[in-house]
Amino acid sequence: MKIAVLYFSATGNTKKMADVIESALAELGAQVEKFDVTVPAGRKEPMDFSVYDGVIFGAPIHSMRAPRVLREWLQTLNGQGKKAAMYFTYGGFHVHPCHYSTREILATAGFTVVASAEFLGAHTFNRGGWQAVPQRPDASDYAAAKDYAAAVYARFSGKDGGVLGELEKTDMNEEFLDAIEGFRFKALTQLPTRNGKECSLCMACQEQCPSGAMDAEKGEADPALCIACLGCLDVCPEDALEINDMSGVFAQRMEMEKSTPQDLNKKQSKIYL
Ligand SMILES: Cc1cc2nc3c(=O)[nH]c(=O)nc-3n(C[C@H](O)[C@H](O)[C@H](O)COP(=O)(O)O)c2cc1C
Repeated sequence: MKIAVLYFSATGNTKKMADVIESALAELGAQVEKFDVTVPAGRKEPMDFSVYDGVIFGAPIHSMRAPRVLREWLQTLNGQGKKAAMYFTYGGFHVHPCHYSTREILATAGFTVVASAEFLGAHTFNRGGWQAVPQRPDASDYAAAKDYAAAVYARFSGKDGGVLGELEKTDMNEEFLDAIEGFRFKALTQLPTRNGKECSLCMACQEQCPSGAMDAEKGEADPALCIACLGCLDVCPEDALEINDMSGVFAQRMEMEKSTPQDLNKKQSKIYL
């Protein structure tokens, strides 16, 4: 069986799960081809899915949905009726309606979605002082990813003829979710910036920016394009980029949700069949 694994991963969590899923599928005897669709170059070529028995899509959850640039690209695909499975990594907060809304996009693109999963992964904003599941993914999350690969294999091979069941929808429509996404830059994240720090202009931040927002020479991201994935901070070999301190917002959020970092860490990765 031939399976494509397409993943978007700005800071590495989603890629870690792609690697586990890839090895688990290979152990089961599948031939796996992995595609990194994080940077725009990875999303340029039209993909022909006819050669695959199934396609797995992996993404981080950004404000309760898949990242904006990824959603836009998924809408351009032609699923040709192929079976697909999804998985998401998230930082311990809200996962819904991400599964539901991404399945809608994939179904409209012509895929039959047979499974989904969510795995814990250190929150990107820990780089700005949050303390959300900093040690995840851990052994329990990797074990869940391995189990998920087996479940997906069974569904792709037809040994298990099921398709993905009901998913939580929430009352938030796409317009409302767009507004939350836009609000982020007003209330939470400032733009990644160099703030006068030394830089050798290696261009990595610009070349590996998923949304084409980062301008290495200026040392600043374009507010109209930036999706706050913080991949630029991760990729900078000189630690020259920074994000604002968001620890106050984290404390407020914990209070609002009547939650603690320990509560977040009690959450478990989950498979949806
Ligand atoms: C802009 C943005 C929005 C996020 N929104 C959520 C969210 O709604 N719920 C959540 O639990 N985690 C959220 N996260 C955390 C990421 O989903 C999590 O850290 C993920 O594992 C990052 O994946 P990556 O390392 O593959 O990029 C968000 C992260 C970013 C950058």
